Amino acid sequence: MVRTYMIVASTKDGGIGCDGKLPWQKCGKSLSADMAFFKKITTSCENSWSIESNVPSTVIMGKNTWFSIPEKFRPLPNRTNIVLSRNGFECEHKDVIHATSIENALKLVSDGNVFVIGGGYLYEKMLNFHNDTIESILLTEVSSEFECDTFIDMNQIHTQFPGKQDITVSVLDFVNKRNLLDEEGYVNDKGVKYKFCLLNK
Ligand SMILES: NC(=O)c1ccc[n+]([C@@H]2O[C@H](COP(=O)([O-])OP(=O)(O)OC[C@H]3O[C@@H](n4cnc5c(N)ncnc54)[C@H](OP(=O)(O)O)[C@@H]3O)[C@@H](O)[C@H]2O)c1
Repeated sequence: MVRTYMIVASTKDGGIGCDGKLPWQKCGKSLSADMAFFKKITTSCENSWSIESNVPSTVIMGKNTWFSIPEKFRPLPNRTNIVLSRNGFECEHKDVIHATSIENALKLVSDGNVFVIGGGYLYEKMLNFHNDTIESILLTEVSSEFECDTFIDMNQIHTQFPGKQDITVSVLDFVNKRNLLDEEGYVNDKGVKYKFCLLNK
């Protein structure tokens, strides 16, 4: 059985990228709890949100997102990496597959969890044409402001996935970073404030 999720970190107005990087990365900041959560959940670790654990794990990303990952960190380990491009993409690594459309990418997966990991172009196509295949969205909602040039449509997301659950505390426990929880229930990661949310239909 295959279950498909979208995972995204966004500012409140939908900012997800800047100059080919994450907006906060561009300012020299990293969201340590967010990165730890992304790594654990996309490698099928045991969790409290009914996302199956110990099953094969696949990440699907657009070509720009692939190239935004520093070379030494790609492919993302312990996951099949599917990279989308209509124009061509080459990588010899055994865990990397090129697909020309979302349909083709999804057909390549026969079992386990699929995580659609961005970027903006792919999220848009996914929400507009394959919303029915997305089980839920794991959203990191960043409250701090950052300059952005790539966006997702937050209104569309909240319309299509109106069920919003704040899972900040359980995520911080999952990644052993409870010390980052502030008194208002936000993660405070060296001054950057965010929450983890699970969005359902
Ligand atoms: N905040 C987050 O959670 C997050 C997550 C991921 C990425 N990002 C950021 O987002 C930015 C990159 O996003 P982006 O919108 O520029 O690019 P992208 O979605 O990563 O990649 C776009 C390219 O991928 C291919 N592609 C994507 N969807 C496709 C589809 N459905 N069918 C066929 N090909 C498809 C196309 O390549 P061809 O033109 O070759 O056909 C397209 O030009 C970066 O700044 C990155 O850091 C943020």
